[in-house]
Amino acid sequence: MTETVAEAVAETVAETAQEPRVQQVSERLILVEAGGRRLITDAACPHRKGLMRYGHLDADRMLLRCPLHHSAFDLRDGGRRVAGPACAALRILADLPEGAPVPPEAELRRLEGRLDAGD
Ligand code: FES
Repeated sequence: MTETVAEAVAETVAETAQEPRVQQVSERLILVEAGGRRLITDAACPHRKGLMRYGHLDADRMLLRCPLHHSAFDLRDGGRRVAGPACAALRILADLPEGAPVPPEAELRRLEGRLDAGD
């Protein structure tokens, strides 16, 4: 065995960091990690408020599909709806640099405020 424990742990951490995933980061926001991107989006589907944290993430195509009525949103194209019931785009509020930590609570609250302001 040529690999040290530290190398094995570092490799596992790197692999885990690259796994596509969706996680809730505040009451109204989710973090989508896929394809080297880390996006903070609205946690609620723009159609009828489906919980996007339970959506299906197609990391190869960067599509996030709502679990309720299956609208699909293109995360490479501003969250534009590409399939499913007609509705607005899924709001993308931040595009975090690779390796950046999840923003602190105050910043997440500021981003949530943008949902209400509609900007
Ligand atoms: S609530 Fe998301 S597609 Fe209807």
